[in-house]
Amino acid sequence: MIPEAVVAMLACARLGAIHSVVFGGFAANELAVRINDAKPKVIVSASCGIEVQRIVPYKPLLDEAIAMADAKPELCIIKQRPMEKAEMISGRDLDWDELIAGATPHDCVPVAATDPLYILYTSGTTGIPKGVVRDNGGNVVALKWTMSAIYNMQAGDVWWTASDVGWVVGHSYIVYGPLFKGCTTILFEGKPVGTPDAGVFWRIISDHKVKALFTAPTAFRAIKREDPNAEEMKKYDLSSFEALFMAGERLDPDTLRWAENALGVPVIDHWWQTETGWAIAGNFLGLYKFPVKEGSATKPSPGWNLQVLDPTAKEPVPRGEIGALVAKLPLPPGTLPTLWNNDEGFLNSYLKEFPGYYQTGDAGYIDEDGYVFVMTRTDDIINVAGHRLSTGAMEEVLADHPDVAECAVVGVEDSLKGQVPIGFLVLNAGVSRDPDEIIKEVIQMVRERIGPIASFKKATVVKRLPKTRSGKILRGTIQKIADNKPYRMPATIDDPAILGEMEEALIKLGYAKAREKEG
Ligand code: COA
Ligand code: AMP
Repeated sequence: MIPEAVVAMLACARLGAIHSVVFGGFAANELAVRINDAKPKVIVSASCGIEVQRIVPYKPLLDEAIAMADAKPELCIIKQRPMEKAEMISGRDLDWDELIAGATPHDCVPVAATDPLYILYTSGTTGIPKGVVRDNGGNVVALKWTMSAIYNMQAGDVWWTASDVGWVVGHSYIVYGPLFKGCTTILFEGKPVGTPDAGVFWRIISDHKVKALFTAPTAFRAIKREDPNAEEMKKYDLSSFEALFMAGERLDPDTLRWAENALGVPVIDHWWQTETGWAIAGNFLGLYKFPVKEGSATKPSPGWNLQVLDPTAKEPVPRGEIGALVAKLPLPPGTLPTLWNNDEGFLNSYLKEFPGYYQTGDAGYIDEDGYVFVMTRTDDIINVAGHRLSTGAMEEVLADHPDVAECAVVGVEDSLKGQVPIGFLVLNAGVSRDPDEIIKEVIQMVRERIGPIASFKKATVVKRLPKTRSGKILRGTIQKIADNKPYRMPATIDDPAILGEMEEALIKLGYAKAREKEG
């Protein structure tokens, strides 16, 4: 999250080269998977990143990833940061500052509107991430329009997206959108709390006269937890501030109300995905502000013919009933034209299930007034602090432990991060090692292979997993038990007694407590 990251992205755009930004919280293995798929000619990296309690050396991660990958870059350009200097590999690594000192300006290279601008990897339903492709023309058309229509921003205004350039929100609304519109954009290498305190957002808004902020609900839950009465806010002049936008995960009504009361400005939830690049549904401050309904991302965006279909009949469901959220083709500008080197995967993942429609992978409903409510994913993707992660990918890691026979990972509710993953392990027959040791090892394996951003900190050993008679693990039911939600005994369950065992295991992990009280 340093200016050089944005400079590198825009330099690629200027040259007609395709960039693929990778978030710093992934492990070397995840980076290697992306290097193998994108086959970059050049890799640009900082020597390190700064987290709340530690410096994260990125260069050793990069070296490890390149060593693992089959596709090797021709060269690496390293921005040496003073907090942690990287060791350079002679003949491959070049110093950013030295190169810039000797660089000459380069004209813009014209490209077709349909040429790719970037590839951004996002979690799919397996351990293999999907390389979402964004084209040049659609991206400009959509983002420039949204800056005024959705966000009510004009040239000269100061805009701040508190996210990371490694996510789609960062691509669209730290880098491209505000700059297309002629706005000032703010790049913040820090967290909502702890860097240094829960007042940092208000200080930045006040110092830079920010007109609107875009962040994830998790950030506000973190601030609210630390400063419930918003005392920090009172220390700053927020008179420039006109609106708060939230996305990346469902905006829970508590956080919505807290932010509305504390800030006294519109708080707007809007729903979108890496694939779409901009909001599928939202409220349109530059066009017309619909009254806010708690729990709803408001109305489909112009350009989106959003429908709710029955997953079996593939027919629209009555208003107010939950079904698959799909968009009738064609998709509007700025949305993904395909997956990198994987047209077949694009068709299979998004267009096959509901012919004539784009499948969002989210389930929800549209109410009588046309308001969109996004309820849950229809696949194994979970949302941890606004970060999209695949539980399937975590299961692949756990299954690799020599003592693990079977496993399941589910996302359970978390008061800060929205959801966090927890793992259930069935050990191989005859394993007599201390289960706590095995749990520690699998937690470390997920950290090493996927990265700290997975926030995988809890797992437990169980005798067996609840399954259908055809052998499908009942992850949805486990999740409902953990979250104390009502659940129906699945008609196809193999052995209902296992659900009681799961409940016990969850209680030991600190979940499923209320149901215990209810008896
Ligand atoms: N490079 C290296 N490591 C990173 C990293 C990066 N860029 N970003 C995060 N990590 C690490 C963190 O250090 C942490 O490691 P730990 O397990 O050793 O503590 C782990 O990944 C999880 O990070 P995070 O989810 O950020 O948790 P946190 O406890 O550090 O902070 C919040 C909690 C709520 C403050 C934080 O999640 C937050 O600011 N969320 C806002 C959400 C957001 O911006 N989402 C973007 C989508 S719009
Ligand atoms: P990502 O591709 O990382 O942006 O994650 C996209 C997914 O995050 C969506 O498919 C939703 O499941 C979830 N999501 C994003 N924004 C919202 C929102 N406003 N309300 C509910 N879920 C959301």
